[in-house]
Amino acid sequence: MDRIAIIGGAQLNGTIPVSGAKNSAIKLMAASLLTDEPLRLTNMPRLADTRFLGKLLMRLGVQVTESDGPDGQQTLLHAPEITSGFAPYDLVRQMRASFNVLGPLVARSGQAKVSLPGGCTIGARPVDLHLQAIEALGAKIDLHEGYVYAQAPRGLKGAEIRFPFVSVGATEHAMLAAVLADGVSVIHNAACEPELVDLQECLNAMGAKVEGAGTPTVTITGVPRLHGATHAVIPDRIEMGTYAVAAAMAGGEVRLSNARPGLIDALLDKLKEAGASVEETADGCIIRRNGQRLSAVDIETAPFPGFATDLQAQFMALMTTAKGESRIRETIFENRFMHAPELMRLGADISVSGGEARVRGVDQLEGAEVMATDLRASVSLVIAGLVARGETTVSRIYHLDRGFERLEEKLGACGAQVRRIKGDGEAEL
Ligand code: UD1
Repeated sequence: MDRIAIIGGAQLNGTIPVSGAKNSAIKLMAASLLTDEPLRLTNMPRLADTRFLGKLLMRLGVQVTESDGPDGQQTLLHAPEITSGFAPYDLVRQMRASFNVLGPLVARSGQAKVSLPGGCTIGARPVDLHLQAIEALGAKIDLHEGYVYAQAPRGLKGAEIRFPFVSVGATEHAMLAAVLADGVSVIHNAACEPELVDLQECLNAMGAKVEGAGTPTVTITGVPRLHGATHAVIPDRIEMGTYAVAAAMAGGEVRLSNARPGLIDALLDKLKEAGASVEETADGCIIRRNGQRLSAVDIETAPFPGFATDLQAQFMALMTTAKGESRIRETIFENRFMHAPELMRLGADISVSGGEARVRGVDQLEGAEVMATDLRASVSLVIAGLVARGETTVSRIYHLDRGFERLEEKLGACGAQVRRIKGDGEAEL
């Protein structure tokens, strides 16, 4: 298995182009199941997760063609007909978001058999809200032996969907299913993340009638059919935030381009509070830190526009060398501090109790062998490695490859000493 090796100590200087958002791309890909015409997605990231989903979609009847055109990386998805409504365990377990094919399959062909999902091991992560939404839309749901059987032979019907708490995936799933339902659906207590707005824009470009994404109430007026469209995937705010933290950690000056301002304000505010300089630009931001040590600041994760849980691990890495004690509260997922013991292997001083971690900044981290435990945790170890004395090697980086496109190349272009070591032990620069 591949590993990443980092030699700490180099400042970062240069420009990092932000890729299209993984979390948006995989839901947009699922939207291709809703029409017999081609859906062209531009600004597509090339990641293990998009490959996994492509594989699953092909099995269901979608032709998936990747190309690199003048508009950059694109994926053409075309499902002239659904050839199978069966999403097997082997393909769904690798990525939780694969479960989101259930709604579109039932919406288009009246039935589906989809495995219960896998995904990062960051807590229990049930799918009860997803099922509640699909059931509210009139599908009959049965669970047997790890599979969800959903049936709506006469099509889905518009409904009021009230989520007891905010779920990004369930809101997206409800939108994906309701666009072809007969009548009006209203989602109450919807997630407000920017990826929901992206999904609304794509669905509307395909002929759907969705309003209100980005607010707690989303209204969907069902239409009998959708058509093809071209849609550019929104920039990845988590990737942008990750490199912003990396720049603040290593010092230097990094411009993040191809992004969108306003997507990670909660993080940028915390970086400023800690003492980094942040300049917002038309297509991203510039992060600078020259010399001075950062100060500890507290964070608490929250749904958008709050501090993203997907940036918590990276921020914890940043705080390991800040001056003072930082309190980090995780409110979205239980068990999302698995990076803490790995950061401690690098010399960090962290104690975890329930949903709160206390990080007491140390003067210097020391390189060590560490192990990635989930997608965002893995990149926090790379960030810590940027300043650790000597060499840090991160194993199990298949987690990293799920969500970060060309990470070594992007950091390397700014002066970081990062290289991938192929599974056979050969270094690849
Ligand atoms: C999405 C993101 C993930 C991010 C998370 C929160 C994708 C592919 N993943 O995950 O990167 O960390 O939003 O911003 O977009 N829950 C239930 N029942 C459900 C659904 C969720 O109890 O049916 C719980 C979860 O266990 C979790 C909380 O709700 O504690 C929020 O999860 P949710 O917003 O659904 O996250 P995901 O969509 O899985």
